[in-house]
Amino acid sequence: MRLEKYIATSGIASRRSVKKSVRDGAVTVNGESILVPGHPIEEGVDVVEFEGKQVEPLAECTYLMLNKPAGYLTTRRDERGRPTVMELVADLPDTIYPVGRLDLETEGLLLFTNDGDFAYRLLHPSHEVEKTYLAWVKGVLRDDAIQRLRQGVTIPSGTTAPAKIKRLRENKDDTSTKFEVVIHEGKKRQVRLMFKAVGHPVIRLKRTRIGNLGLGNLPLGQYRLLTPEEISKLMVV
Ligand code: URA
Repeated sequence: MRLEKYIATSGIASRRSVKKSVRDGAVTVNGESILVPGHPIEEGVDVVEFEGKQVEPLAECTYLMLNKPAGYLTTRRDERGRPTVMELVADLPDTIYPVGRLDLETEGLLLFTNDGDFAYRLLHPSHEVEKTYLAWVKGVLRDDAIQRLRQGVTIPSGTTAPAKIKRLRENKDDTSTKFEVVIHEGKKRQVRLMFKAVGHPVIRLKRTRIGNLGLGNLPLGQYRLLTPEEISKLMVV
């Protein structure tokens, strides 16, 4: 890992200010002054000191939430060079990866970790972790369409399990309706395909909650580390 990244991810300072400090001579590696921010660090082997204090090695696992904007692919790398969610967490160790997936145009809560066990538990269908979405859909749904969504509809990958569907608001001109949708499956493009199946395509989709973890007021495009309490609550699902 590059020196400035190693120091920044231990939480001491931002990458930019670390770079400056390195150039100013505030950093030693194994006792030697290093003035090059990109100097390679072998984790667990090299001893790095910043302003005379030893930089603690990274915590073993990292857990964070991102408020994903539309237009970013949920993948670690795209062969066609399109923007990926990794660009929004580029300050963090590159061992982290997204837990599950939001499609290109979907916004909202996306978790990242480098803890494979944690990701496995959250994603495994047997754990039935609830995911909550806000969906803005075209037109005004009749009660029977809402009922069908609640019971399960047929989409190309199968029939969806019962879902919680709450109508929140209709646009004054009847062109769209906002819903809260809670599902515990993770079929590809599930929410979009559910509304499409009842003839009302989704215009905008945002995930607001995974299990008991809410997005809160995290600004679009920003991430934050999860608190130990949030991590342990998600672990018990
Ligand atoms: N359902 C969708 O249709 N898209 C998502 O990104 C997540 C759930």
